[in-house]
Amino acid sequence: MKPVVLTVVGARPQFIKAGPVSCALANAGLREILVHTGQHYDPEMSDLFFEELAIRKPDVNLGIGSGSHASQTARMIAALETPILSCRPDWILVFGDTNSTLAAAIVAAKLQRPIAHVEAGLRSFNRRMPEEVNRVVTDTLSDLLFAPTANSRDNLMREGIAGDRIHVVGDVMLDAALQYRSLLTSTNGCIANLPLSRKQYVVATIHRAENTDEPCRLRYLLDSLNTIATTRQVVFLVHPRTRRLINGWKAASNVHVSGPVGYLPMMQLTVNAGLVVTDSGGLQKEAFFHRVPCVTVREETEWVESVALGWNRLAPPVSVDSIVEAVNAAWGSTGIEANPYGDGTASRKIALALAEAVG
Ligand code: UD1
Ligand code: UDP
Repeated sequence: MKPVVLTVVGARPQFIKAGPVSCALANAGLREILVHTGQHYDPEMSDLFFEELAIRKPDVNLGIGSGSHASQTARMIAALETPILSCRPDWILVFGDTNSTLAAAIVAAKLQRPIAHVEAGLRSFNRRMPEEVNRVVTDTLSDLLFAPTANSRDNLMREGIAGDRIHVVGDVMLDAALQYRSLLTSTNGCIANLPLSRKQYVVATIHRAENTDEPCRLRYLLDSLNTIATTRQVVFLVHPRTRRLINGWKAASNVHVSGPVGYLPMMQLTVNAGLVVTDSGGLQKEAFFHRVPCVTVREETEWVESVALGWNRLAPPVSVDSIVEAVNAAWGSTGIEANPYGDGTASRKIALALAEAVG
């Protein structure tokens, strides 16, 4: 009988991360059961990724949906017990820092099943972020911690986590970027009919609670996009959290507002952009992978390497001018050449470590 890995995903970036890891698990002779909590459920936030990237479909979708942190996480915890009890997996595999990650880690610990955490050791050192709480708790409960970088390993060691539980493997989002780049064609390219010239436009996404749920910050961000659009085209891809909060905002004519797009159009837009403006963890890294300068509209970032190398700069949205100045300074800039996120083999290393730990 093959060892069983029960993978829990729930949010957009987790589907993308699960893609290369699922393939690697199969190649390593492991049987995977994929459980989708249903945290993200709009077709363009969920089904689209399984279809366009040919990721294996979830075996179970718990259909949890949205809610307050407590109620959403509690419903996930209750619903995850059944699949975990019924298949008694050798490993429970979780990704990143969402409420789905936290819920799965808690249930696994309570049912005494071993937990493996991909993207372990990331820290913003800001406990007001819900994701930081999720990361710290998940790492504390995990038996195997897959740190993407040396810095994330050091964060774990400083918290007293034993070094033999930590594997520095690189970043699975780099694996995804390298694997899926070959699927890019001119037809999954930039949103049709937009007047975009290569390297002459800005791609923007905003979804962090600290930016969307603070009216002043959101207003600075939206107004800065309109200001940037006086000199450049801006493509603004709106996350559902942000969508309901920007009713009434009038985008300038050079700000092209769209709902979320698939991973391949997103990659096409990023690769060809002159600059990325974002508060997304994943998109910050992808900008770096494709060597596109990035302005991260946050006080801090967990992905400190791209900032240290000069490809990414922090611009807390404390005024319109601060964001626009950061964009102007970053436009056309480059950074130091280095590969802190590995060589695209993180998924393989994760699968082999899990297979070895079962044996
Ligand atoms: C979640 C993660 C965040 C991650 C992001 C990736 C937590 C605490 N946050 O944030 O770390 O960066 O996913 O995108 O887990 N909504 C829809 N349709 C959907 C999904 C959400 O309309 O398919 C709306 C709902 O109004 C919901 C809101 O978006 O209340 C927020 O969704 P939620 O999953 O709670 O958090 P995200 O902001 O997506
Ligand atoms: N992404 C996408 N379509 C979009 C916006 C983002 O496919 O319209 C991808 C992006 O390329 C990256 C991932 O979604 O791979 C990042 O997810 P998100 O920003 O939602 O979450 P975070 O990474 O901040 O947790």
